[in-house]
Amino acid sequence: MAAVLLTATPTLAQAEDYTVGLLLPYSGVYAALGEEIDSGFTLALEQRAGEIPEAEITIVREDTEVKPPIALSKTRKLVLQDEVDVLVGVVSSGVLGAMRDFVHQSGTPLIVANAGNDDATGKRGSPYITRLSFSNSQVSRPMGPWMAEQGIESVFTLAPDYAAGHQMINAFTEAFEDAGGKVVGQDFTPFQNTKDFGPYLTTARASGADAIFAFYAGGEAISFVKQYESFGLAEDVPLHGTGFLTSSLYVESQGSAAEGVITSLHYAPAIATAENQAFVEAFSAAHGRLPSEYAVQGYDAGQALVEAIKSGATDRASLATALSEVQFTSPRGPVAIDPATNNIVQNIYIYKTVAGDAGMTQKILGVVEAVRDPAQSAQAVQ
Ligand code: PHB
Repeated sequence: MAAVLLTATPTLAQAEDYTVGLLLPYSGVYAALGEEIDSGFTLALEQRAGEIPEAEITIVREDTEVKPPIALSKTRKLVLQDEVDVLVGVVSSGVLGAMRDFVHQSGTPLIVANAGNDDATGKRGSPYITRLSFSNSQVSRPMGPWMAEQGIESVFTLAPDYAAGHQMINAFTEAFEDAGGKVVGQDFTPFQNTKDFGPYLTTARASGADAIFAFYAGGEAISFVKQYESFGLAEDVPLHGTGFLTSSLYVESQGSAAEGVITSLHYAPAIATAENQAFVEAFSAAHGRLPSEYAVQGYDAGQALVEAIKSGATDRASLATALSEVQFTSPRGPVAIDPATNNIVQNIYIYKTVAGDAGMTQKILGVVEAVRDPAQSAQAVQ
């Protein structure tokens, strides 16, 4: 035993280099989201560096521009030229879908820090893809039964016309109709190209639905929520959706238009736990404002990487295995990776955006604990 310990000690003390490819939109409609994930990721590495003193982490950043072909060529460059040990990032489901085969075939671990593409932890799952953010259906499904329980009988849905929009709406529609509701109409707006939501809001109003359920994020969420109010719809037809609609990243710029919007999401800055309070304080000290779900996703991607390194992982294969086994208490609550899908298991919060003393905040109306996706991918993940 003593001999083993003697040989083990110098090995542990040796510096271990890790190169991280941080692949995010630093331009385009999701640029602010990319910056926010980057801030959360670097905060976690800074805070926890002392736990992995032997690790030297180099970050190589690339801009996906929210364009799947560009993102794929940047992925190839990071893997083949920079020889990164791990990829972190991607915001758009379309980007994740385009990268999936190359990531899988090259055996490079990817920590997904946003993109909710259900297939990446579903029918196109991979042992190299571990998601620390959410899946599109995981965040939207819980609103189905919840809205039905509130007595809402009919809903009109709206979302951008790309993978994430369709997956969020499909999951919500199925869950709402299973709970006895009826989706009376839907529209998908051109992604990254819709400035005027007026024609879609006119159709939504004419449907006579009791409520709207929508998914929009980033720049599109800001204009959608503002136009919803200025169109006069907010008074008659309550706006519901996934919490990206009124993310704390941009809720202050939506102002009164965000008040009263009811959404479901895996994070709200108002979550009252010691872990969240510490995170809110650290993030606010660095950035002068509250963190959003995107910041938490970056932070937890960083925490997962630290956990994997602490467990002794040194190369792509051992990092992939270690990442798929992480569990810890996040600012959002307890989190773990589901071995059946490699997607995160986490609480989903249903909350209303309200005006507080120090700006917009969230009134939590319900919590669905430990939400996991159905395992459609048991074989794919093996
Ligand atoms: C996605 O494309 O998967 C996506 C983008 C932004 C969000 C949520 C999901 O806020």
